[in-house]
Amino acid sequence: MFFNGLSRRRFAAMAGWSALAISTRPTKAAGRNSKGASEPPNPGRNSFPRGFLWGTATSAYQIEGAVDADARGPSIWDRFVRLDGKIVDRSTADVANDHYHRYKEDVELIKELGVKAYRFSIAWPRVFPEGSGAPNPKGLDFYHRLVDELLANGIEPFATLYHWDLPQSLQDRYGGWQSRDTSKAFADYAGYVAGRISDRVKHIFTINECARLVFAGYGTGIDAPGLTLSPRELNQVRHHVALGHGLAVQAVRSRGRKGTKVGPAENIEVCIPAIETPANIRAAEIATRELNAGYLTVMLEGKYTDAFLAYAGANAPKFTAEDLRIISSPVDFLGLNVYMPNHYVIAGDNGNDFALMPFAATYPHMDSSWLRIGPEAMYWAPRNAAKLWNVKSIYITENGTSAADRLTPDGKVYDVDRIMYLRNYLTHLNRATSEGVPVRGYFLWSLMDNFEWSDGFEKRFGLYHVDFQTQRRTPKLSASFYREVIRRNAVM
Ligand code: FCB
Repeated sequence: MFFNGLSRRRFAAMAGWSALAISTRPTKAAGRNSKGASEPPNPGRNSFPRGFLWGTATSAYQIEGAVDADARGPSIWDRFVRLDGKIVDRSTADVANDHYHRYKEDVELIKELGVKAYRFSIAWPRVFPEGSGAPNPKGLDFYHRLVDELLANGIEPFATLYHWDLPQSLQDRYGGWQSRDTSKAFADYAGYVAGRISDRVKHIFTINECARLVFAGYGTGIDAPGLTLSPRELNQVRHHVALGHGLAVQAVRSRGRKGTKVGPAENIEVCIPAIETPANIRAAEIATRELNAGYLTVMLEGKYTDAFLAYAGANAPKFTAEDLRIISSPVDFLGLNVYMPNHYVIAGDNGNDFALMPFAATYPHMDSSWLRIGPEAMYWAPRNAAKLWNVKSIYITENGTSAADRLTPDGKVYDVDRIMYLRNYLTHLNRATSEGVPVRGYFLWSLMDNFEWSDGFEKRFGLYHVDFQTQRRTPKLSASFYREVIRRNAVM
C-alpha cells in the first residue's frame, strides 16, 4: 500500500494508466554519453562473442496463408485443421498472417528489431504441389522474392526445408513418413530447392523437430496427420524421418553450391543435472544421449544405442547399415530448439546410469501448459550436445514463449512475463558462450504471433502482436527488450 492507503494497482487504474509509468527523478548523467544515448553499464559483462548472430524465426504454414495461391498443393495441415475438434479455436491457417502478400512489410519488422538473420521455412507443397513429380516454378518464386528482400535489407536468410507441412498427396499415396518413399521424395525436393537458392541462402536446415512431428503427428495424433500408430509402426516412422534428414543432407551437398551449410533443427530432449555434482552432470550427459537416441544420437553417431534397441525389442525399426550411414551424413552445424527442461536428472543407483526426477504439479509454466520455465535448459542443451558429439557449431534455432498478451487502450503490449523468460534464458545462454560452448547464433521464436498448430490463434509467441482481423502488427515491449540485447550484444 502506498499513497495514503491506495494500492498501487488502484492508483494506476484511477489515473487511467494501463501500465505504471512515473518519472520522479531525472536520469543520472553518469549513465549517458554526450549524445544522450545510454551506455551499457558495464561493457563486457554478460556479453556474447563478437559476431554472435541474433535472429528471429517463423514457419511457412504458421504465417503465410494464401493456401490456394499460385498453384500451391494441399498440405496435411490444410486437411487436418478441418477435422472436428483438432484445433482449439476451430481456426484454420488459410489466411493466418497473410505473410504471402505482406512479406515486404514483415521484412521491415525484422529489420526494425536490428536482427541480422531470419529463419523461415519453405512450403514443400508450393514447390511440388503433389510432393514429387513436376515442380511448380511459381512456388519457389515467392521464396526468391522473400530472400531478395531480406538480403536487400541486410538480413541473412536461413531456410528450413520441412516445418511439418507435408504435401497431402504423399500422405494419400504413401502414408506420409510411414514409407521411405516419402524420405526419398524429400531428398528430391531438398536437392531441387538447394540447387536454386544456394546462390543466396548459405544455411539450410533439413527437418524442424523430427521428434515432435513423429510423436505428435503419428503417436498421439495431436498434430497432422493425426495418426495414433502402434509402437512398432511409430519406430519405423521415426527411422524414415531420420533417413529423410540424411538423404536431404546428401542432396543439399550434391546440388547446392559449394560451401552451403546444412544441418538439422531438432527439439533436443533437454536433460539437466538437478544439482551440479560431477556424478549428476555425467548422468545428465548419458540421459541426453539415450533420450535422443532416435534422432540426434543416430544422426551424429551413426548407430542406434544398445539401450534404445533393447527397449524397443521386437518393435525396433527395420534398417540397414547403409541407412545408418546416410542418416549420419556429416552436418555443418546443429540447430537446437530449446524451450524448457525435459528432465531433471540425478545419478542412478542399482546399476542405473541415471534417474529422471518427476515434475511436481506446482512446477511453473508459461501461458502454454507444456512450456515449463527452466532457463538453465538454455545452458545444458548446447553444452551437453557439444560435449557428447564434439559439435563445433550450434545455432539455437528456436526459443521464446507464449504469453497472455493484451493490447492496452493506449495501443501497447506490456509483456513483462516474456521479458522475464527471455532475460533468464539468455543469461544461461551467456553462461554457455562464456564457457566456450560453440553457440554461433540465436533465433527467437517468433517474429510475430501466428497460427500455433492445434492451439490455433489462442497462444501468442510473437515479438509483434498481430490483430488477425485487421492484420495490424504492433511491437510488444519484448521487441524493445530484444532490440536492446542485440544493440549491446549482451543480456541485461
Ligand atoms: C515449436 C515449433 C514451432 C512453434 C513453437 C512454439 O515446437 O517448431 O513451430 O510452434 O514450438
